[in-house]
Amino acid sequence: MATIEIDNLHAKVAEEGGESILRGVDLEVSSGEIHALMGPNGSGKSTMANVIAGHPAYEVTDGQILLHLDEDEFEDIDIDEETQTWDLLDLEPNERAALGIFLAFQYPAEIEGVTMVNFLRTALNAKLEEREELFEDEEEEVEADGEDTNEDAAGYESSPMEGPADDGEVGVAEFQSLLQEKMELLDMDEAFAQRYLNAGFSGGEKKQNEVLQAAILEPSVAVLDEIDSGLDIDRLQDVSKGINALRDEVGTGILQITHYQRILDYVEPDYVHIMLDGEVVKQGDASLAVELEEKGYDWIREDVYGTA
Ligand SMILES: Nc1ncnc2c1ncn2[C@@H]1O[C@H](COP(=O)(O)OP(=O)(O)OP(=O)(O)O)[C@@H](O)[C@H]1O
Ligand SMILES: [Mg+2]
Repeated sequence: MATIEIDNLHAKVAEEGGESILRGVDLEVSSGEIHALMGPNGSGKSTMANVIAGHPAYEVTDGQILLHLDEDEFEDIDIDEETQTWDLLDLEPNERAALGIFLAFQYPAEIEGVTMVNFLRTALNAKLEEREELFEDEEEEVEADGEDTNEDAAGYESSPMEGPADDGEVGVAEFQSLLQEKMELLDMDEAFAQRYLNAGFSGGEKKQNEVLQAAILEPSVAVLDEIDSGLDIDRLQDVSKGINALRDEVGTGILQITHYQRILDYVEPDYVHIMLDGEVVKQGDASLAVELEEKGYDWIREDVYGTA
């Protein structure tokens, strides 16, 4: 099991005099749980997702984000006392990803010249390699009695932009069958695998592709930023099936950012959190999202601030 623990998180835009956006967020997501994060436009939801992933546009001014891992979180790696808790704010975005944090973007990027199949296999191999290195470095540091022996430059050694590396833990043939299985689950046309990443994809196809990436990378915690926006009813169901499979088969903890109750009918949340002005001001179960749909946000503002 893995748990991401966000305590009193404050963040601002990383420039002089940059606006404060997050003003004390507390939130915890564990493996196997589904959380929905809702809130008005501009309340700070995407900013929080980006801060979790390590986006350089934001500076954390207070609070912490910890990742707790159980001994058996990764099949191929022994996790001991020293490597059970990680301070995510000390880590680069690729190191966070290697530890199992995944962010599906609200606006996925298009990358010409990199096919989906190459991108996904390279990303998977880079993640596995980085993870191994992280745990090795940690062991060396402990052995060196606290001396900093970590001389690695930030960033993956092989980048998904460089195209296929022939080496890597997961080979071409093995990856093909993995990809096929995940694409079938999401009801995606196999032809997509040979197309350039998101280039010319429709809005809905891009969103489906984000879930495919998560299905391949099998994260411990996935933050899905408005994965439901722009999906037609059939695709909403395919994407929901993919998210539920992540939770049920991989044990991923899901933090689903959404404006609408609709996807929550298919991906039923265990917890619903409401963000207002950079703070999580209310938490409840699935019924809170239904209530919100009926009453809007003024009711929450009145409840929290005593005035709409
Ligand atoms: N890099 C940035 N530079 C300047 N302002 C920013 C930056 N990132 C976010 N903001 C501001 O912070 C506030 C929160 O933005 P954020 O994207 O987190 O909102 P959101 O809750 O995801 O909204 P939506 O529901 O519309 O997606 C907004 O007022 C936004 O303009
Ligand atoms: Mg947003």
